[in-house]
Amino acid sequence: MLDARWWQRGIVYQIYPRSFMDSNGDGIGDLSGIRSRLPYLAWLGVDAIWISPIYTSPMADFGYDVSDYRGIDPRFGTLDEFDALVRDAHATGLKVILDFVPNHTSDQHPWFVESRASRESAKRGWYIWRDPAPGGGPPTNWLSEFGGPAWEWDAATGQYYYHAYLKEQPDLDWRNPEVRDAMLSVMRFWLDRGVDGFRVDTIHHLIKDSELRDNPPNPQWKPGMPPHRKLLRLYTTDRPEVHEAVAAMRRVLDDYDDRVLIGEAYLPFDRLMAYYGQDLSGMHLPFNFHLIGAPWDARAIAEIVREYEAALPQGAWPNWVLGNHDKPRIRSRVGAAQARVAAMLLLTLRGTPTLYYGDEIGMCDVPIAPGEVQDPFEKNVPGLGVGRDPERTPMQWGGGAGAGFTTGRPWLPLAPDADRTNVEALRGDPGSILSLYRALIALRRAQPALAVGAYAPLAAGEGVLAYAREHGGRRLLVLLNLSSRPRRLALAAGASGARVLLSTGLDRAGERLDEAVELRPDEGLIAEAPGAPG
Ligand code: GLC
Repeated sequence: MLDARWWQRGIVYQIYPRSFMDSNGDGIGDLSGIRSRLPYLAWLGVDAIWISPIYTSPMADFGYDVSDYRGIDPRFGTLDEFDALVRDAHATGLKVILDFVPNHTSDQHPWFVESRASRESAKRGWYIWRDPAPGGGPPTNWLSEFGGPAWEWDAATGQYYYHAYLKEQPDLDWRNPEVRDAMLSVMRFWLDRGVDGFRVDTIHHLIKDSELRDNPPNPQWKPGMPPHRKLLRLYTTDRPEVHEAVAAMRRVLDDYDDRVLIGEAYLPFDRLMAYYGQDLSGMHLPFNFHLIGAPWDARAIAEIVREYEAALPQGAWPNWVLGNHDKPRIRSRVGAAQARVAAMLLLTLRGTPTLYYGDEIGMCDVPIAPGEVQDPFEKNVPGLGVGRDPERTPMQWGGGAGAGFTTGRPWLPLAPDADRTNVEALRGDPGSILSLYRALIALRRAQPALAVGAYAPLAAGEGVLAYAREHGGRRLLVLLNLSSRPRRLALAAGASGARVLLSTGLDRAGERLDEAVELRPDEGLIAEAPGAPG
């Protein structure tokens, strides 16, 4: 595994561009801002940045509604600034991964404008237009992910169009070869400009049932759950033909050197594995989101890791995610102390970790007053806690007004604790979560066992998650106390005498472990088993 590719060994850092760094004082992050913070990312030690969409967009869904796939939205900058960012990132040793949004365009995209102009339009078949159901009303019972029906009536042409998300995000028809060709050539456009890969948005939605069958009710739905969950998305997501489309994307990437294809699909493991494609001809990394929804419990997480490892096809490379721009932040889910244990988990499991900006400084979800809500999901479906603004607030670089993010008024409020929880303050503190992240990343880089080694679960008592990572004769033990009580863990005979390399408190390195280890509440340790070289 020493010849592992960069996206196998490396660590991906997700940047939500509106919130990372604002260089022009308009309160919205931009490309020049990201560029100015590359030294920080190099210091942190990550290998790649994935930037959420920066394309021209009316911003109905903050960039996930693209009106020009080859343009940079002026709020984010220009193509020249983009090229400069890629150039500098590469010079710094960082790869650049773009978001690719193939499932839908903006309703302002010239393709859709043309498509909706008339039934005879050359682009009519680029989107999913259907007549009303025989008795009137939408063609199927399909629901939008963001609330309400997924069909929008177009009075001018007397048909409905399908949108899995907002009505401002009409779905493309990926069964149409012209659509495919157009979208694949968008990928080439950016690959030619030097990007190192794509994170493909909502890939499992790409193909819908050709017979337009109604989705069945979800027996598990209860009031309080988002309304679109009332139905099982049997005929709107994860259709078998999607894999041909994924393989076509992959073929485009394979014409280039060493690029990566990452796919976003919230699916159970058995379904997710199909996205690696036949003989691994699909996604390099179908995102594994199972830690995001997991109860924070040692047994539950051990079971997730076991199931995932067991389900991976031969040769498929694993990956892990703790948070992103759509889900509550890890620190808010598990608390400050466990966020450190979570960091150790993410960076020691087998597989590529994706780190969400700000989690490395322990950013929290920021409560958003009703009048300040920006997210269309929250606006459509208020009060259920589905809003995504809390995890999208500006990066906290320093203290004072604007927190080093902007000199203007930030587009979302800054966290109330930004004066304490910020890069400047935590960078100089050897015990901070930022110092922990940096040490974990450095250790992962220095130890092939962590980056590419084999994984084996270890027996552990109540509340503790334990596993070994092994490579080239070196064996590292990872012992994580997921509980808030002290735990004692007996080490197997061969492990006694292990030397601590790193602890979540950053205060136990060098300690020798006996046959039993005392773990403090909320503490994790990485130790090297004896007998190892060096
Ligand atoms: C994905 C994105 C999300 C977006 C949606 C529609 O789930 O991560 O932010 O709203 O797709 O494009």
